[in-house]
Amino acid sequence: MDAQSIILHLLTPEGRADPYPLYALAHELGPVAPAGDGLVLVCGYEAARQALRDPGLGADSGLTAWGGDADSRPSLAMLSRSLLVADEPGHGRLRASMAQAFTARGVAALEAGIGRITDALLDGLEKAGGSPVDFMDAFAFPLPAHVICDLMGIPPADRARFRAWAADLSAMLEPVPGPADLDTADRVAAEVGRYFTDLVGARRAEPREDLVTAMLAARDQGLLRDDEELVANLAILLVAGFETTTHLLGNGLRLLLDHPGAMAGLRDGTVPVQGFVDEVLRYDTPVQLSNRVALTDGVSVGGVPVPAGTHVVVLLGAANRDPAHYAEPGRFDPTRRDSRPLSFGGGAHYCLGALLARLEATVAFGRLPARFPALTSAPGAEPVRRDRIFLRGHEVLPVVPNGAG
Ligand code: HEM
Repeated sequence: MDAQSIILHLLTPEGRADPYPLYALAHELGPVAPAGDGLVLVCGYEAARQALRDPGLGADSGLTAWGGDADSRPSLAMLSRSLLVADEPGHGRLRASMAQAFTARGVAALEAGIGRITDALLDGLEKAGGSPVDFMDAFAFPLPAHVICDLMGIPPADRARFRAWAADLSAMLEPVPGPADLDTADRVAAEVGRYFTDLVGARRAEPREDLVTAMLAARDQGLLRDDEELVANLAILLVAGFETTTHLLGNGLRLLLDHPGAMAGLRDGTVPVQGFVDEVLRYDTPVQLSNRVALTDGVSVGGVPVPAGTHVVVLLGAANRDPAHYAEPGRFDPTRRDSRPLSFGGGAHYCLGALLARLEATVAFGRLPARFPALTSAPGAEPVRRDRIFLRGHEVLPVVPNGAG
């Protein structure tokens, strides 16, 4: 199969449900595979690492790569004002407007709160006991949502609507999003825009100790150009800040269900929780791709020249299963050492929330196996994967916390 066919297959429902066999085929083509029409696929670990850090490659919404029109859509206009797709000059300024909250010190200060939220959610699972419950609903969504909302200063009463908002908005990050999905993303972008405009107004009138107030101060210092830029970056933070972590938690739980040895190992300490989290990030990567575009001629990736304007699709999920880098990449092995998956990207756009996401997952998977040693899949209720390729996770993940029967 050539690179173009691999792309076409990745965009089918079967490819979205399980992209890994296609990645295995992509590896046979080499670490970097030209896919025609000014597009190259990067699936080798070293080539991906280099591409993510190469200053000759700029951020790319991806939409232009796949033929989308970035100008005519409010959702894409919002995305285009965010740090996620910004280059210099501009990216450093936008990143600085929010970076303070995500330093090692800032994140360490959140640990006790994360522990409290985790325990409260585990208490909720306890109540379900021997009955089936959807892990996504009961744990994987609320943990990161409460953490990011506490940090941003979003009132508890407003949080329930964020799950649908984030899911609808993140559809715009898909390669080739459908027009109906983009219509929904446009409507939600307008709603989210109004929501944050009001919240910013409230914090301007009455500042608090939260990220919205801090970003308002950054706006007053000139790090953010105007309120539109402030609101767009708050919206992106919302999507980036919990959907990703939700799917890390869901993918991790699914792997625990499928590998009872890992569950026992986490309980008795033979599987280190950070190693487990790293292996989940590697084996079932929540953010599957990262888009770049060559800013000038003379750039190459893995030795393959990429002329100015070439779209470079870095397949993080494939790089994390590169057989040239990982022994038995298709085997889930939470005792792997020093695995350093590329799941948080790299270079200037390296995930700002990586420390926070790791902390949430470490606290969650540090506590869950001890409290629910008999946790199983719910009999007769299959997990449902989301029909997405960019953010890989589950819609529904039915479990019985205290074991079935
Ligand atoms: C960027 C993954 C959690 C905030 C990124 C990128 C990846 C990523 C791959 C790079 C995108 C690119 O280069 O194209 C993840 C994963 C997470 C996670 C897998 C959880 C498991 C978080 C959290 C936050 C966050 C919890 C914030 C609270 C951001 C921001 C960016 C980003 C703001 C843009 C950085 C920039 O463009 O400079 N993330 N992320 N992420 N992430 Fe995360």
